[in-house]
Amino acid sequence: MKFLITGAGGLLGSEFNKVVVEEKLALKRTDLDITNFEDVYKIVKNYKPDVIINCSALSNVDYCEEHFDEAINVNAKGVENLLISAIENKCFLVHFSTDYVFDGNKNSPYTIYDIPNPINNYGKSKLMGEEIVKNSKYENVLIIRTSWLFGIGKSSFVSKILNMINNEVIYMTEQISNPTYSKDLAIRVYKMIKQGYKGLFHLTGALSVSRYELAKYILDIVGYKGKIIKVENFPSIAKRPRYSSLDNYPLEPLRDYKVAIKEFLKEFYNFRTL
Ligand SMILES: NC(=O)c1ccc[n+]([C@@H]2O[C@H](COP(=O)([O-])OP(=O)(O)OC[C@H]3O[C@@H](n4cnc5c(N)ncnc54)[C@H](OP(=O)(O)O)[C@@H]3O)[C@@H](O)[C@H]2O)c1
Repeated sequence: MKFLITGAGGLLGSEFNKVVVEEKLALKRTDLDITNFEDVYKIVKNYKPDVIINCSALSNVDYCEEHFDEAINVNAKGVENLLISAIENKCFLVHFSTDYVFDGNKNSPYTIYDIPNPINNYGKSKLMGEEIVKNSKYENVLIIRTSWLFGIGKSSFVSKILNMINNEVIYMTEQISNPTYSKDLAIRVYKMIKQGYKGLFHLTGALSVSRYELAKYILDIVGYKGKIIKVENFPSIAKRPRYSSLDNYPLEPLRDYKVAIKEFLKEFYNFRTL
């Protein structure tokens, strides 16, 4: 199998670049802008991948709130460019979406049968991307909704929390979801591609947790001596769902955040005492 990975400079794309061992072309935003149809089509036609893994996205939630057109261009139109190129060239398309397609008003994990209702522009643009793929009725697709990614290569909530280690007081919200290690997600989805999975799935780390509890967990490990205070919400440009845990049924969830974060901190932040 030949793979084309887009958004290869991002958190998830860089993991796929490591995990995929077969022939591959891993393209960063500077190599391929998915909003340019001609470029996307030309690369797919010439390289002839069997599988396209789309890891490109405009993923900064507050930025998307203020730049909705740009968010739609990348998270929806860019996806359509990849989809058309996949259909025309008979490729399998893997696409990622988010827990932020839900409004957060449910009190139990969202299943694949729950109706999305995004409350911010990032979620709206990601839902448009999903719907373009679903409505095409093209069968050779795998859509994975995931949540709270962390990993190496790009800033995530884990690196943000670690950057606050010298603050005397840290404020964290009660927002709840499932932290997901990008490495675990890439390894599992790579397997799913080989096993022939198609359609829409939820795939996250096994445990849900609030930002507050998560910060406590990480800061305990690294020996933080200050105070962590729970707040209901931060003033932010975009609203966030209060609760966006995803039910992984029928899939087995990935490793829970406690195990995965310990491994991540040990491997990449050198916390040798763990
Ligand atoms: N991060 C999370 O917590 C989270 C949670 C749920 C779902 N997801 C979804 O998971 C997927 C992977 O996210 P991620 O965390 O890996 O995001 P990321 O680290 O921001 O990576 C996305 C990559 O896409 C690139 N990109 C942006 N615009 C592009 C364009 N027009 N053409 C080509 N590439 C473009 C970005 O390049 P630049 O860096 O140069 O902008 C970046 O390298 C996305 O679909 C995201 O919506 C993420």
